[in-house]
Amino acid sequence: MAKETGDEKFWRQVRQEFMLDPQMTFFNTGTLGAMPRRVFDRVVDHLRLCAEKIAEWDYYGADWIAGYQPWTEIRGKVARLINSEVTEVALTENATAGMNYISNGLDLQPGDEVLGTDQEHPGGECGWKLKAKRCGLAYRQLALDKPIQSPGEVIETLTRAMGPRTRVIAIPHIVTGSGAVLPVKEICAEAARRGVFTVIDGAQTAGQIKIDVRELGCDAYYGSLHKWLCAPAGNGFLYLKKEKAPRVWTTLASTQWDNHEDDGFRLSQRGTGNLSLLMGLDEALDFHFELGPERVYNRIKSLGDYLRMRLKEIPGIKIFTPLESSMTAGITVYNIEGLTGDFIQDELWRRGRLRPRSMGDIYGVRQSTHIYNSFEEIDRTISILKELASG
Ligand SMILES: Cc1ncc(COP(=O)(O)O)c(C=O)c1O
Repeated sequence: MAKETGDEKFWRQVRQEFMLDPQMTFFNTGTLGAMPRRVFDRVVDHLRLCAEKIAEWDYYGADWIAGYQPWTEIRGKVARLINSEVTEVALTENATAGMNYISNGLDLQPGDEVLGTDQEHPGGECGWKLKAKRCGLAYRQLALDKPIQSPGEVIETLTRAMGPRTRVIAIPHIVTGSGAVLPVKEICAEAARRGVFTVIDGAQTAGQIKIDVRELGCDAYYGSLHKWLCAPAGNGFLYLKKEKAPRVWTTLASTQWDNHEDDGFRLSQRGTGNLSLLMGLDEALDFHFELGPERVYNRIKSLGDYLRMRLKEIPGIKIFTPLESSMTAGITVYNIEGLTGDFIQDELWRRGRLRPRSMGDIYGVRQSTHIYNSFEEIDRTISILKELASG
């Protein structure tokens, strides 16, 4: 059973900051994170202000809507999160938007090749499929194992595939369907040596694992902020390295469409947007920094490690998350022989009000362990899985 450590008291207090119903256990942060109360309040307060006092908006000061102004302070906090300059950060609605800005915005020629993996989320691959069909590109999705055995396997697969026509590598930092943390730094270094543009899908990383775009050496990196960072749904970002920014046209053009002094602002222009959601993002960033990104990561990682360790007690368990510890964090994907993801998902809910997410017939369920989860909730999951495994 889980060990009680001094830390547990602290994390129980953190859990109190969330509005999650104590009768239910939420294990699906990989789809959407839960907002802390202060984030929720900030959104609602701003929405109320707009509903009641919009007549006070005189256009001299800050806007009451998002989409037109640079919101430099908020972009600065995202820049701090990923270790970039503020002008390299655009605010987007989500990861999907970030990917489309890059795939649509790069000038590529018929016959040029884009490399990805066969384990992409639609939000990481469809922009490339569209571009390939429209412009005659070759979009090759390289097969990776599930579970991936080692970082070396991924590096070798990508390195071997790079050829004279390869122009772009577009891969996830964390794989959506297994939780594998890919060796992005090594792949970007090899791509840079060959002049290949790299874009990393970080939908699952912000608020979960460390993102240091300088250290990773990628040219672009996009992510969602409504999953592990716990901002309200509809918040994402796109990082574009300043040296590479002139290569990327904006997809949505408004007044700043040609602003090359602040490329992040250029790529954030999207017409009238919901500023209340952006206020929620601002609050979620503050919450994350106050807890401390490293402390958050350590908690997520120890919960994930504990879950993976205990899963091994279950007869017939199949774990699709890598066994190598450096390739794992807070997402674990598993199935029990003879069962389906829908069955496991529904039984965990029926018997214990536990909510992971079904990944279908083969891959079972995806269980995300975030700071509002506990070792005790994992113990309860394991008890029910043992009942299911024994029929
Ligand atoms: C790896 C990956 N990429 C992209 C996405 C799409 O994210 P969003 O719906 O926030 O655009 C997801 C969502 O789960 C994901 O896991």
